[in-house]
Amino acid sequence: MKLWAGRFSKEIDKKTNDFNSSISFDSRMYREDIEGSIAHAAMIGECGIIDKSESETIIQGLKGILADLDSGALTIDPNAEDIHTFIEGELTKRLGQTGKRLHTARSRNDQVALDIRLYLKKEIKNIRTMVQELIRVLCDKAEAYAAAVMPGYTHLQRAQPITFGHHLMAYAEMLLRDLDRLDGAYRHTDALPLGSGALATTTYPIDRTMTARLLGFADICQNSLDGVSDRDFCMELAAALSIIMVHLSRFSEEIILWCSWEFKFVELDDAFSTGSSIMPQKKNPDIAELVRGKSGRVFGDLMTLLTVMKGIALAYNKDMQEDKEAIFDAVDTVKMCLTAFTPMIETMRVLPENMRKAAANGFINATDCADYLVKKGLPFRDAYKATGTLVALCIEKKTTLEELPLEEYQKVCDTFDEGVYDAISLENCVNGRKVLGGPASENVRQQSQRVRALVTAAQD
Ligand code: ARG
Repeated sequence: MKLWAGRFSKEIDKKTNDFNSSISFDSRMYREDIEGSIAHAAMIGECGIIDKSESETIIQGLKGILADLDSGALTIDPNAEDIHTFIEGELTKRLGQTGKRLHTARSRNDQVALDIRLYLKKEIKNIRTMVQELIRVLCDKAEAYAAAVMPGYTHLQRAQPITFGHHLMAYAEMLLRDLDRLDGAYRHTDALPLGSGALATTTYPIDRTMTARLLGFADICQNSLDGVSDRDFCMELAAALSIIMVHLSRFSEEIILWCSWEFKFVELDDAFSTGSSIMPQKKNPDIAELVRGKSGRVFGDLMTLLTVMKGIALAYNKDMQEDKEAIFDAVDTVKMCLTAFTPMIETMRVLPENMRKAAANGFINATDCADYLVKKGLPFRDAYKATGTLVALCIEKKTTLEELPLEEYQKVCDTFDEGVYDAISLENCVNGRKVLGGPASENVRQQSQRVRALVTAAQD
């Protein structure tokens, strides 16, 4: 029997019921639904809207349902319309007339808005902790490899020497901003919509401040139409999660490259790799590939939410039921990705000798060679040209700038002296770049300390 049976003369068509129902995906919010109802029952009891004793009975009844759902003694009816209807129905089954008083001064429209907010507040915190953990792992690794010279790339071509620690700290910085975005999403989620009613509040003398306090909301939705219609917080979270996935996906792409024989900068632990069914030699970075691939789902979820919301007149419309599968999928996917990604990074074996070898080829110290001439008074364009000539010479002679004899340097430009070899040593090139934001090992250590402090501070 439906909630609205009084107005209708027929039962809903079976297949239409399935189409209309959200129980298959909103049942995960049973705890939040019950927490919200307990606070609502307490408030309407306190405000004299229902009897204090009935309010107490309802609260005990709801606690009993929660305990039974947790223990498995009660299972959710898959034919119910949604989790709100199921729990209210179960309460009435248990309490009779008193159960029917719970929904006084409330609508499912403000109830569902409340449940999603309560649910997402917990999940944002969970994801936050997971991102913090990844940042900490990156700081550990960056410190361990603060001095490991590797080629830095532009256009995936060897460009200038950097350190592996510096490369890892770039991701730590991105993730730090991700934490900030999660905090922004949290702030906008942390407002109580309950009391908005169906759309226009209620004539009962409710106390929204009390409900907000009982449920731990920092804020209260100030306009009832907005309170039931707002899903900005879902879109904002999906956007923040999408950006996290962009970062994880780029990182994954690099892991995949670094694992190849062409690079061999890192080797993934066996526990985070897979083999091939046919090629016995293979060790595949499936986890990184899946993370890269799963980014598409999360972007899709964001697009779903934006599209669902963009054309609906105020206030609640059933379209909005589509919000949940999208935001739940985005949350689940990011959590799943982080669960596999962080230990994969933590356990990967770094091969600094291969990075150093790659750095020795590709003339990545050419800029430093030119800068050396500039420091001796040559205009940069002339220095650039002279160095270009030397690089071409090295390519022709199959040698490197480090190994080219001084006479050859001096044939191209007589400003060169013995000092050039110091200036172009890769270690000096890296450690000379110690301005703020640079790759020098001492910078990496400073960056890491700063990030660690920020992550720890953000925790409290
Ligand atoms: N299952 C619905 C949803 O998720 C709950 C709100 C129903 N409200 C209504 N007026 N039909 O959006």
